Amino acid sequence: MARTHRVVVLPGDGIGPEVTAEAVRLLEALGRAGSFGVELQSHAAGGHALDLCGEPMPESTRRACVSADAVLLGALGGPRWDHETGDRRCEAGLLALRRLLGVFANLRPVLVPRALTAVSPVQAAAGTDLVIVRELTGGIYFGEPRGLEPEANAPTACNTMRYSEREIRRIARVAFRLAGQRSGRVTSVDKANVLEVSQLWRKVVSSLHREEFSHLALDHLYVDNAAMQIVLDPARFDVVLTANLFGDILSDLAATLPGSLGMLPSASVGGTTGLFEPVHGSAPDIAGLGVANPAGAILSMAMMLDHLGEDLAAAAVRTGVQRALDSGVRTRDLGGSATTRQLADSILEHSLTLAADGVLP
Ligand code: NAD
Ligand code: IPM
Ligand code: MN
Repeated sequence: MARTHRVVVLPGDGIGPEVTAEAVRLLEALGRAGSFGVELQSHAAGGHALDLCGEPMPESTRRACVSADAVLLGALGGPRWDHETGDRRCEAGLLALRRLLGVFANLRPVLVPRALTAVSPVQAAAGTDLVIVRELTGGIYFGEPRGLEPEANAPTACNTMRYSEREIRRIARVAFRLAGQRSGRVTSVDKANVLEVSQLWRKVVSSLHREEFSHLALDHLYVDNAAMQIVLDPARFDVVLTANLFGDILSDLAATLPGSLGMLPSASVGGTTGLFEPVHGSAPDIAGLGVANPAGAILSMAMMLDHLGEDLAAAAVRTGVQRALDSGVRTRDLGGSATTRQLADSILEHSLTLAADGVLP
């Protein structure tokens, strides 16, 4: 009996619909060619939803997401909605969805395919293979108190970076387990020279390491130094474990390694339903032009296939992306002139051939 996966698609704003359309086209083709079914539902989210029904993450969308096996998201937000505040912000809708799904672990692999070593502005980028494990449902994104302080006599606002021991332990466990399946090295990134919350982070990560994962290598870096090391010596990293805000910033920085933010995928896990979204945003500067790089969205879809147990299809997509790039098809961000559709077509063709061969590449 073929398995059928229930997938909710939230195309969102800007280039979101352009890149998710390509990921969905490939997903459906793999399903048809392989042995699994996909039941797709598309729902409104972000600015698009705000225009339609006055909120960025409507109840109907949230309900569909919780009962799906996986959610594939494009990008939310953009300049048209930047004047919104509080719960009406598109980004607040995305944070609410992450919280609702309980996806506290955001995995952001950074790989530099051979074909892109010349595209990267970073000299040491060749051979990079690291994963940022970013805590996703805590830290300064959610800490209380937050907001404008009306009682202050001059405009003042605050956010709070807060982590409990439990939140730190569970994300550290994800990082150690992942490192155990890779090269066995975890670098925990914090700001323990200044922040108490980071001092607790370091203490909890170190004790978990001692208690359960002492066969793995652990080191600690301050986030400012880590930012420099990612560019100077990316090969020193295997699994980078870090808090919500630091992981957000470091992952865009790490996008310089493959040479474009358009290349990076992510998987958010830890709840029942997984959430899969490229690392990039709605890219208002290129939205509607048909030139966005679809690889980040397509590789996020591959992480979704892994999550759904479709290992063969997932591996075919990953290798398909490499083969497409090897063949010289490049979107503008990678220094080429291919359209979104042309790069997606090439990835599709290679992925389907690999999937039909039926061997894990
Ligand atoms: P961005 O990631 O949208 O764009 C940054 C730069 O990278 C731009 O020059 C853009 O053209 C380029 N870029 C991004 N993705 C690309 C792709 N696939 N192909 C080619 N080039 C690509 O970041 P921003 O401009 O700071 O944010 C725009 C909006 O997106 C904001 O409203 C922000 O909050 C939102 N955002 C949403 C998400 C999400 O929904 N997951 C993530 C990040 C940013
Ligand atoms: C990301 C984005 C989001 C984040 C925003 C849009 C809320 O930048 O997924 O990296 O900061 O987590
Ligand atoms: Mn980000």
